[in-house]
Amino acid sequence: MITKNTAKHNLPFRRVRNEGRTVADIAFDAQKIAFAPISFQAALALRNLGILELLNATSADDKTIAKKLKLSLYAVQTLLENGVAIGLVSLENGKYTLTKTGWFLLCDPMTRANMDFVNDVCYLGMHSLQASLTKGKPTGLKVFGKWKTVYEGLSKLPAKNRKSWFAFDHFYSDIAFPEILPLVFELAPKRVMDIGANTGKWAKKCLDYNKEVTLMLVDLPGQLNMAKKNLKKYGKRAEFYPKNVLDPKAQLPKGADAVLMSQFLDCFSEAQIISILKKVKAAAHKDTRIYILEPLWDRQEYQAATFCLNHTSLYFTNIANGNSKMYSYSQLENCVKKAGLKVEKVFDQVGRFAYTLLRCKK
Ligand SMILES: C[S@@+](CC[C@H](N)C(=O)[O-])C[C@H]1O[C@@H](n2cnc3c(N)ncnc32)[C@H](O)[C@@H]1O
Repeated sequence: MITKNTAKHNLPFRRVRNEGRTVADIAFDAQKIAFAPISFQAALALRNLGILELLNATSADDKTIAKKLKLSLYAVQTLLENGVAIGLVSLENGKYTLTKTGWFLLCDPMTRANMDFVNDVCYLGMHSLQASLTKGKPTGLKVFGKWKTVYEGLSKLPAKNRKSWFAFDHFYSDIAFPEILPLVFELAPKRVMDIGANTGKWAKKCLDYNKEVTLMLVDLPGQLNMAKKNLKKYGKRAEFYPKNVLDPKAQLPKGADAVLMSQFLDCFSEAQIISILKKVKAAAHKDTRIYILEPLWDRQEYQAATFCLNHTSLYFTNIANGNSKMYSYSQLENCVKKAGLKVEKVFDQVGRFAYTLLRCKK
């Protein structure tokens, strides 16, 4: 709503004209942000109560929907009116129809993974985002437990929340992993170290891809216990090194021909990244190749991807650790250089979320 008051408070009319949009459109954009948490919960309710699914099959009026889903007419009307407001359904001649955005929200696996992650991992904690930013601590994590970082508590999160965390993490890496396998195996490494190996998904891909290779998995003990169970059948070809890489005394095992860090360095501040990369350098031999896989927000083709990555940064602020983020190319390259490593090759546009794979060496 544009009132005399907003005009008095310096609404930038000149810029408004330059943007080629009306003041009403701009005010509407601002209201979308003001009501965003309510829009989000309404969309989730429309999805989880089965209304979007019903409308995916056929258009229907509110009374029919209420009867079929055993919901009150009040609940259905309130939600559907909101659904029209946020563009998930349209209303014509008393019947509601699913829009294309509504279909995406219901059927697109990426949108589902993102929404479940936001709801089950981020939503409650985000109320304290400002405190996280001023204190440099993941203040939102207290809704789950008294850990310093989410990684310490990952294996102990309630099942539903843990499932959404892993579904989000794996959704993106599952798409990127097959694409980077030939790039990492191009120079025929015999021993591959996976730092931040998590549940062993990438290690498993490597062990299946090349029957000679040995994998050296590094992660916190909780995650490596899960990986051990998942990689039992590979016997001695999978080695486990439980470590907190931030522990000043912790050193990385030597002997790797290739080192992979996938979606790992974004879990740390720039100073921490430099110290971790220095440890990687100390463990590397002269021909070791160090691969860094990251979705860099300034290397995305689609605006939606940059939008998601910039929002994910605030998950790191509020829930994960309070001091890391999704980085830009120059920030990451700067850390690599400060650790005394050289970027040898850059592979762009890997996977759906346009990952960048940096190949570095001593
Ligand atoms: C975002 S996940 C990435 C997992 C996997 N590499 C992938 O691409 O899907 C980050 C991983 O780093 C591990 N990690 C975080 N902090 C760590 C630390 N201080 N020491 C060792 N591992 C850590 C986490 O436990 C988690 O498994």
